[in-house]
Amino acid sequence: MLTVAEAIQKRRSIRKFKPDPVPEEMMAQILEAARLAPSGTNRQPWRFQIVKEGELKNKLIEGAVIGEQPQIAQAPVVVVCGSELLSFVKGHKLAPPGSEYFGADSEDPAELQKFLPDAHMYTAIAVEHMVLMATSLGLGTCWVQRMRFGQAAKILGWPRHIAVLTLLLIGYADEDPESRPRLSPDQILLKEGQTLE
Ligand SMILES: Cc1cc2nc3c(=O)[nH]c(=O)nc-3n(C[C@H](O)[C@H](O)[C@H](O)COP(=O)(O)O)c2cc1C
Repeated sequence: MLTVAEAIQKRRSIRKFKPDPVPEEMMAQILEAARLAPSGTNRQPWRFQIVKEGELKNKLIEGAVIGEQPQIAQAPVVVVCGSELLSFVKGHKLAPPGSEYFGADSEDPAELQKFLPDAHMYTAIAVEHMVLMATSLGLGTCWVQRMRFGQAAKILGWPRHIAVLTLLLIGYADEDPESRPRLSPDQILLKEGQTLE
């Protein structure tokens, strides 16, 4: 098992997978990594649906995915990741205790939408926890956001208050890509007192 530092270094987006299944114990460890993620006021809005079955996967590929992304059909596990917006409603049973002072005043869809950026930010943290855990277990992953989220939700039968964020593909890598380019430290670190144009 890789350390966190090793997993951060080694991780790549994988777009070729071997057909070998992902062991159930590994999937349990990956989901546990998501469950332990931090979130504002501990809302924990992340929800996951594991899709392995061919027919549902094909419906997603044909009805929701944008462009040619053959890695989705190849991946032995596709985790659909989304955000439960009801966890942002003040006093709701899905909202954590103590979070009543901030949140949506009702379950009205327009009101819930205001919390979508926060909800998806928290879910994205949980997704990247899964990515790093999978990498440390020797698995490959790929985020797939190039899709029509509304169509995906419809195909999956998700209610309107659970918004799809991304697919996460998981499986044994059948490629070993070079690291992809990154900005330099100078390009991302603003100096103290630096004025921006
Ligand atoms: C939020 C997000 C959405 C992405 N969506 C897609 C996608 O739809 N299809 C895909 O093949 N890769 C997708 N990627 C992978 C990126 O292309 C990849 O992370 C980036 O090019 C850097 O390469 P690396 O992950 O190997 O370092 C996505 C990554 C992130 C974080």
